[in-house]
Amino acid sequence: MRIFLDTAVIEEIKKGAAMGVVHGVTTNPTLVARAGHKDYKAVVREIAAILPEAAPISVEVVSETVADMVADGKRFYAWAPDNVIVKLPTNAEGLQATRELAKDGIQVNMTLCFSANQALLAAHAGVTYISPFLGRLDDIGHDGMQVVKDIIEIYDMYGFATEVIAASIRHPLHCIAAAKAGAHIATIPFKILEQMLKHPLTDKGIEQFAEDWAKSGATNT
Ligand code: E4P
Repeated sequence: MRIFLDTAVIEEIKKGAAMGVVHGVTTNPTLVARAGHKDYKAVVREIAAILPEAAPISVEVVSETVADMVADGKRFYAWAPDNVIVKLPTNAEGLQATRELAKDGIQVNMTLCFSANQALLAAHAGVTYISPFLGRLDDIGHDGMQVVKDIIEIYDMYGFATEVIAASIRHPLHCIAAAKAGAHIATIPFKILEQMLKHPLTDKGIEQFAEDWAKSGATNT
């Protein structure tokens, strides 16, 4: 399972990329607004310069008609053609816009997916990525992870190439469950990347080794 960072905060992307464990970034209008950015194009280009070459960056439309989604998608794509994946909502307009964008070789991450049926239709429309929102389903008392499992089972059964991005991740256990379910990617907030890595026994062990080494008087040069 690859890791995407679900953020528009440049410092977080820099830290994640420096660790060598970030394979892409997903943004959405809320994340861009929360990070205080005013210029989406500049942000996307800055992220592209930080990430490894051709790393996917999802850029979300806020338009509602097919024509506007296609126009926005083409404009976003031109910002960074090696990186930009157009994020479209899982609705009729999104499906139609996916087909239109595919004519120009522009890939789509279909977002706000909450059911396996939606994911089946998105795969038929030819999306590159589908993003089921685990956390938001859990929030309303549904089993988000079960939806991810159902999508993976259906895609495997019928040989769809669409990759599943476990999205709306709320805690590190979601990452383990998504990986065990066979999700191709998890897109996670930076805080969860830190939580995945952190373990008190690792910190304690590092401290202990440093202490013992200092006491030993040994050399390693
Ligand atoms: C990712 O593509 C989504 O925009 C994101 O995971 C949504 O997460 P949230 O439900 O925490 O807003």
